Amino acid sequence: MQAALSAIAFHQHALRQSRPQSGQGSIVLHNTEVETAQSQARRAIVLVAKSAFAAAPYRQMQQLCDLAAALPGVDHTSFGFTEQGTPSLREALAALRQQDFSDILILPLMLPIEPSFNAWLTKSLRRWQTEDAAPWPTVRIARGLAESPLLAAMMADLVTGADATPPIPPLDRLAPEGSLVPAQKRRVLVCQGGPCNAAGADLIWGHLRNQQDRQKLRVTGDGTMSAKSTCLGPCNLAPVLQVFPEGTYYGGVTEAAVDRIVTEHLLGGAVVDDFAYHPTGRKQVLR
Ligand code: FES
Repeated sequence: MQAALSAIAFHQHALRQSRPQSGQGSIVLHNTEVETAQSQARRAIVLVAKSAFAAAPYRQMQQLCDLAAALPGVDHTSFGFTEQGTPSLREALAALRQQDFSDILILPLMLPIEPSFNAWLTKSLRRWQTEDAAPWPTVRIARGLAESPLLAAMMADLVTGADATPPIPPLDRLAPEGSLVPAQKRRVLVCQGGPCNAAGADLIWGHLRNQQDRQKLRVTGDGTMSAKSTCLGPCNLAPVLQVFPEGTYYGGVTEAAVDRIVTEHLLGGAVVDDFAYHPTGRKQVLR
């Protein structure tokens, strides 16, 4: 948390440097009716974290938003999640698209970040831009926390602050905790292998989990549970997920594909042929 707060302070300098200046691009009409049109550059920042489930991390994200909102040149801040959590990054961007921003900066707050993070986020942004053809503001992705020269100072602050924290007392014995055996009959495995992650599997996982919560899929119909998996096999069809008990493979999965798989397959029992790939004994490519 402290690291993220300090990182936002670090980005203050970069924002001062890169923000379009107010008044730039002004058009002055030399006419009997002189009109001056000032194109206002308006910048929004989206803080990005992986997941949030409880109220406390949402409060932390809001606290970070408030800090970022105080930075010079920032007109609006919001947050979004790349995995489970509401709003998803895509939903956060969609909300910003309803407003008149000239540029949007995506500020990742995660540590560590997979090398493929920027690649799949860039690919996903391009897909979203293609799917929503109305003009987009400029979108940039800020560099990650690990690249900040302030990282050592942040760690020193955390280490010093830890001295005041009481140590964790050992327990004499651990009480056994029981578990419910799941009654759900359906399973969705979302591949998290390298090629699938590079193709945006995190976003697909997050979207599925958000839909699972919103539509109460665990207790609806046959009941659905979902899990991340290692490589499911057909990597060139990334991102891949598999639905059981049928074992149906879905490839090239998008958020819209997840919505259809939820409605038609998980709740309706019908395989979604547009995204399904069945074993043929021959190599298959994305359609
Ligand atoms: S990495 Fe996803 S199918 Fe292999």
